[in-house]
Amino acid sequence: MIKKAIILCGGTGSRMFPATKTTNKQLLPVYDKPMFYYPLSLLMLIGIKNFLFIINKGQKENFLKSIGSATDLGINIEFKEQSKPNGLPEAFILGENFIGKDSVLMILGDNFFYGNMLSPLIKDSLSTKKGANIYLYPSKNTSAYGVVELKKNGEISKIVEKPIFTKSNLVITGMYTFDNNVIKYAKKLKPSKRGELEMVDLINIYKKKNNLNLIKLGRGSAWLDVGNYDDLFSASSFIKNIEDRQDYKIGCIEEIALNNKWINKHNIKNRIKFNNNSNYSKYLKGLI
Ligand code: G1P
Repeated sequence: MIKKAIILCGGTGSRMFPATKTTNKQLLPVYDKPMFYYPLSLLMLIGIKNFLFIINKGQKENFLKSIGSATDLGINIEFKEQSKPNGLPEAFILGENFIGKDSVLMILGDNFFYGNMLSPLIKDSLSTKKGANIYLYPSKNTSAYGVVELKKNGEISKIVEKPIFTKSNLVITGMYTFDNNVIKYAKKLKPSKRGELEMVDLINIYKKKNNLNLIKLGRGSAWLDVGNYDDLFSASSFIKNIEDRQDYKIGCIEEIALNNKWINKHNIKNRIKFNNNSNYSKYLKGLI
């Protein structure tokens, strides 16, 4: 069972300048919470309690302020600074001590997943002992993502990063699980033409070894990569629409911790104080 996760909150955020000149992109609000709350909440929902946040240099203070007490959330959080954006797989090199001898899940801090069938599907995949899992979503915008091409018999034919042309619509979302070999494989990777280590190269190593599982997210689920203003706006209005219609908040980390019995009323009261007189606090009051 995978019990550890890396939440990747690095990158220059240059697509979102000037707002990201002074802050990590993943600290920006998506509707009524910081962006990273959404991937964090999904992983808490599937039972993960141990997190490594990979963040930009000098941002630890801001993340600590944004998260508040991890104890009041029933989770453990470590931080590691990435001095330069050398590509996503560098997370496994920076996270070597955190991963230890275990398998690990990695999620990108700007990826938003939603759907009630999602957590059982992902939870189920955490029991994979060997190899890697990648989670696929049908998309029209294949040139912006990693893409999996399949043969007629359903086997993988090719995995390519941001293809100009492809017949496939299966894109690779920003969530992955890897066995412990990932540290060794990440160290072997060479930078691509754009000068970064690439996830697709790492995934292709698992493919070559016949150790790659594809998990398709069902059509009732939503996935958004919130790395530019249009997608940030879409995700914000998606969340606002759903939260306005129903009496639940999406991505409320305290509610998930309480339902998991990781925390109690006393912790929620601390979080109410932490969030002062906001609507978020009001929602927390309703939980107890
Ligand atoms: C990265 C990965 C890509 C994946 C995407 C998901 O791209 O390289 O394979 O489809 O995340 O969000 P990036 O967002 O860094 O361009």
